[in-house]
Amino acid sequence: MRHTADARTQISLVELDVPPGKRALITGASSGFGLEFAELLAAQKVNLVLAARRKEPMENLAVDLRRKYGVDILVEPIDLAAPGAAAGLKKSLDERALQIDILVNNAGYGLHGEFLETPLERTTDMIQLNITALTELSYVFGRDMAARGSGQILLIASLLALQPVPTFAAYAATKSYVLAFGEALHDELRPQGVVVTSLCPGHTETGFDAAAGAPVSPMLRLLTMKPRPVAEIGLRALSQGKASVVAGFMNNIVAFSNRLTPRSMQRATMKRILG
Ligand SMILES: NC(=O)c1ccc[n+]([C@@H]2O[C@H](COP(=O)([O-])OP(=O)(O)OC[C@H]3O[C@@H](n4cnc5c(N)ncnc54)[C@H](OP(=O)(O)O)[C@@H]3O)[C@@H](O)[C@H]2O)c1
Repeated sequence: MRHTADARTQISLVELDVPPGKRALITGASSGFGLEFAELLAAQKVNLVLAARRKEPMENLAVDLRRKYGVDILVEPIDLAAPGAAAGLKKSLDERALQIDILVNNAGYGLHGEFLETPLERTTDMIQLNITALTELSYVFGRDMAARGSGQILLIASLLALQPVPTFAAYAATKSYVLAFGEALHDELRPQGVVVTSLCPGHTETGFDAAAGAPVSPMLRLLTMKPRPVAEIGLRALSQGKASVVAGFMNNIVAFSNRLTPRSMQRATMKRILG
């Protein structure tokens, strides 16, 4: 099994075409997709900065990836939802003369349930992380990249960005923001040598459901992907310079069917699957 996993990483290494010796900042690197982005990039000799609140899982990951790939890894425990967190992180990296070539804007979470039944502070905290921190990080690191004439930014949106979702109303709307923001930035920054790609994963086996307090229906279970292939799809789209990508065949069918159906029907379907 170990051999298979390593072999799969080797395949990704060839296909992803990310230049070695660069440094990537991965937010949300203590769990789920963040772990996969870290391993895929480390396997290509990309040095890393890992950022999330929980230090221990990132330290463990760093030990493992340094041993396997010999890359330089810095662990930055940080609450990115705190006001000014993105600027603080940028300043702390600048003080150590650490340049970020690849930004993986991945930290985020969902909140499942009726909007009015959810304490407002929980919703605004989520908006602070999913929207404000992501925007600020894109700004502070994007400006440096544009000034250098090169850089890559991957934004993690969601399949839920594509339609309104009752019981995930505010979360889905944060992801609509991420997708619209990312696609617009793609066009703005491309002439300046910076690639911006938005990844839309569908339901994936990570810590997401536990954090969101979301039930997993049998139908949703059938659509669930593993995080590794989703992360590979995102990094491959980034290296191919795409504006956005939906991960996985079934999720692409959902995305395509959205073009053919009225929004009222989309909302009803989502409520049935996720409600
Ligand atoms: N899994 C899915 O079905 C799915 C589908 C579409 C999109 N997504 C998106 O994928 C991204 C990654 O989530 P995941 O699925 O990998 O879930 P996850 O396993 O729960 O990972 C979420 C990551 O975000 C970090 N995070 C949460 N709050 C933070 C804060 N205040 N400051 C810094 N870091 C914070 C968490 O670390 P700490 O708790 O240590 O801070 C964790 O590393 C999210 O943006 C999510 O919306 C997930």
